[in-house]
Amino acid sequence: MPKRPPKPTHFDLCEEYLQTVRDLLAHPKVQSMGRFMQHRNVDCLHHSLNVSFTGYRICRRLGLDCRAAARGGLLHDFFLYDWHKGNPHKGLHGFTHPRVAEDNAARYFSVTKRERDIIRKHMWPLTLAPPRYPESYVILLVDKFYCIAEAFAPSGFKGVRRLIRHARKNGLLSAPLLPVNLD
Ligand SMILES: [Fe+2]
Ligand SMILES: [Fe+2]
Repeated sequence: MPKRPPKPTHFDLCEEYLQTVRDLLAHPKVQSMGRFMQHRNVDCLHHSLNVSFTGYRICRRLGLDCRAAARGGLLHDFFLYDWHKGNPHKGLHGFTHPRVAEDNAARYFSVTKRERDIIRKHMWPLTLAPPRYPESYVILLVDKFYCIAEAFAPSGFKGVRRLIRHARKNGLLSAPLLPVNLD
């Protein structure tokens, strides 16, 4: 019987994930998400990393398009304003921000159809059209999980904290942007 490939370590997964989103994470507009609070003490960049890294691991495990999950997940809340201070766009933030995030993603990066669907449908069923791809369902469920979980664990989660430490060491995240103490 052929030997199963060894299970990747957390370090391997961090490396692989960071390679997948390297260009996005290095972009100043993505880094600027660290200035906007999302839930309680968690900023938008940290929240997006939670969603993206967890979605990536789930999709990888399920044999789905984990690259689309990582990239779409990282950009799912790429709306670039502090929603606590009001919505610069017409309408309610909950309904309008997926479209704003999709427009921003397409403006700054080359995004695939699947990544656009992940971003645009992540608030479903609030936004009426249902997702077209399984990766979109994974991200919308993971997003909902973190919306609740971040309220109870504002200092972050072990796996993602290790990922952020790894990203910082490699110069992929500017330290002052992240409010959580990772040292
Ligand atoms: Fe959102
Ligand atoms: Fe979100």
